[in-house]
Amino acid sequence: MLSIQTTQLNIPTGMIDLGIGQPSPSLLPLDILRQAADHRLSQADPSLLAYGAEPGDGYFRLALAEFLSRHYGAAVSADHLFVTAGASQGLDLVCTLYTQPGDTVFVEEPSYFLALRIFADHHLKVVGIPMDGDGLSIEALEAKLVEHRPVFLYTVPVFHNPSGLTLSAARRNRLVELSEQYDFLIVADEVYQLLTHNSAPPPPLISFDRLGTVLSLGSFSKILAPGLRLGWLQGRPALLDRFINSGLLDSGGGLNPFTSAIVRSVIESGWQEKHLNQLNRVYQQRAAALSSAARRLLPENVSFVEPYGGFFLWLQFPEAVDVERLLPDLRQRNLNVQPGVKFSSRNGLRNYARLCFAYYDIEDLEEGVARLAGALTP
Ligand SMILES: Cc1ncc(COP(=O)(O)O)c(C=O)c1O
Repeated sequence: MLSIQTTQLNIPTGMIDLGIGQPSPSLLPLDILRQAADHRLSQADPSLLAYGAEPGDGYFRLALAEFLSRHYGAAVSADHLFVTAGASQGLDLVCTLYTQPGDTVFVEEPSYFLALRIFADHHLKVVGIPMDGDGLSIEALEAKLVEHRPVFLYTVPVFHNPSGLTLSAARRNRLVELSEQYDFLIVADEVYQLLTHNSAPPPPLISFDRLGTVLSLGSFSKILAPGLRLGWLQGRPALLDRFINSGLLDSGGGLNPFTSAIVRSVIESGWQEKHLNQLNRVYQQRAAALSSAARRLLPENVSFVEPYGGFFLWLQFPEAVDVERLLPDLRQRNLNVQPGVKFSSRNGLRNYARLCFAYYDIEDLEEGVARLAGALTP
């Protein structure tokens, strides 16, 4: 029988793939989208089928601004929002508009591996800055700024992918000061800002911006559904003008007018709020179960920081372990993880692995850790 693939994933039967970084199918809110689409399409207003306004649908941006203001605890103006087709597309557009091949960009070491792919598409030179328990090391950044002139620093300041770490408030202030002093842009990928369990992270990096050196990437992929391909850029209007007046927008109009009109109904009806609360309840339980299984079942020399938000647990193995070389054995045991080396800009981090708690339920997470423990103990 012809098998037609409909999603990015193609998981072999029986495999527990803890390398996957997305929500379980059971958490994708078909009912909410059905009701929101019914509501929006019964308004007798065909404007969502026309080329959209360049910054994005104005009513959607107002609804999003109100939603973010409530969650960020600081006023977000609709004029500071530009609608994208997701954080990845926003980042790609930043590269298109701000960089030339050969330019230098700074990333964290480790960094979100698929952002590294986007930088490779744009032929950028990537320099990694180490992290510690409080996120990006400011000291290491200052040292690198003496050697290089980056166009921008790409950072995941909250519930970092893959490490789960969060940049402290003090470092956020200092980072913004440095961006002003050395004249580089901070591209803050804040897609996990709202995915928090029991205590709130510091305010988003964009709220530390003073002179327009920060651009924030947001996305509905993590709080509603990745298939929507809907996200936003937040920044000063002077920064957003470059996007609004780009050739892409001039030709195609604003991004995603149809989807954003429907998601406007999701927000205005309060469904987004309810869904986010549900996700955070589920993810909190899964993160706790994964951490507890890792503590119980893995050897003592495997360490990690228990995550309180985001999607990921970042395991550190003894130096001698190369997770990439362990993969064939793990796959024999019907298990997969993301090896640390994928997140390195310099072929390092070989003794790390990223495990995701967003895709599988508790039973599978525990079974996955048991399989990993089996591969580690002779
Ligand atoms: C840090 C980070 N940025 C961006 C993305 C992708 O976001 P989007 O689906 O909005 O393109 C992900 C998804 O895994 C992510 O972890």
